[in-house]
Amino acid sequence: MKIGNAFKAGAGFAFAALFATSALADGTVNVYTYRQPELIQPVLDAFTAETGIKTEVLFLDKGLEERVAAEGANSPADVIMTVDIARLTAAKEKGITQPLVDDTVNKLLPAEYRDPEGHWFGVTKRARVVYTSKDRVKDTAITYADLADPKWKGKICIRSGQHDYNLALFSAAIEHWGAEKTEEWLKGLKANLAKKPDGGDRPQAGAIAAGECDVALGNTYYVGLMRTNEKEPKEKEWGNAINVIFPTFENGLTHVNISGIALAKNAPNRDNAVKLVQFLASHEAQQVYAEKNFEYPVEPGLAPSDVVKAFGELKSDTLPLADIAKNRKAASEMVDRVGLDDGPSS
Ligand SMILES: [Fe+2]
Repeated sequence: MKIGNAFKAGAGFAFAALFATSALADGTVNVYTYRQPELIQPVLDAFTAETGIKTEVLFLDKGLEERVAAEGANSPADVIMTVDIARLTAAKEKGITQPLVDDTVNKLLPAEYRDPEGHWFGVTKRARVVYTSKDRVKDTAITYADLADPKWKGKICIRSGQHDYNLALFSAAIEHWGAEKTEEWLKGLKANLAKKPDGGDRPQAGAIAAGECDVALGNTYYVGLMRTNEKEPKEKEWGNAINVIFPTFENGLTHVNISGIALAKNAPNRDNAVKLVQFLASHEAQQVYAEKNFEYPVEPGLAPSDVVKAFGELKSDTLPLADIAKNRKAASEMVDRVGLDDGPSS
């Protein structure tokens, strides 16, 4: 019995190792991603059409960094595709990425949207904007600072202050204003909340549609997703109940975050993986990828889709995302100190 089991285990291991070797070496680029596969498939298909290189997608909704780290030297991961500076930074800090210094890529992608050491590259961007009630808000311009203005008391809805999207915005505020002013601002924002932060960005638009608040913070692409949602008429209503206003810092620019790609540390198909990064940096791919997701190409001058164009003109902040990422911990502690997630009355 004992011998049999040992043999079985041994044979299984040998088979797994063999399988892995052949699967890894055939040049297929293995993409580990937090993004829904249907969002990245069109751009990967365009890559295959142009280069003949195949891709394989592994979607994970959590624990991607841990998984690649646990797979170690034998990891099949060639690239990691994800959204938000927090996750790209986490991948680098976990030691599961490798640097890429490529003149072509660096020329195409603005420096503020990539890691200075080449560990991650932003290929599309999204802005953190203000949603306002079409019916009740006549203001056509609202700055980030304005969100703490008592004129909005009881009128603002947001998702949790500890969510990556808000932490990145608050981190940018720290970079622009310093910690002290940002904390004052957060207190003002808290005082203006209509209710306890809850739900994602879309439900904030829903709360506006339902008359619970007049103003909310949200990402741009959700507006595109809601307005074109044929499956959920309710979301269409939410999307159409709001206007998009591009709030700005004192430099006149709007906070943006990215979706990006990183080369996995032990990429078995490194050469082809580099080709995928180069392809994603191209004008064509930035546009295909951005269009599918209602995002913006990172390169200035490349137009977004018509749905996104209808929001108005985005003037993206030029603050390097790597600098924003450094303030994350301070921002998170500030959110707790201020009690932002407790809502307005505590
Ligand atoms: Fe999102």
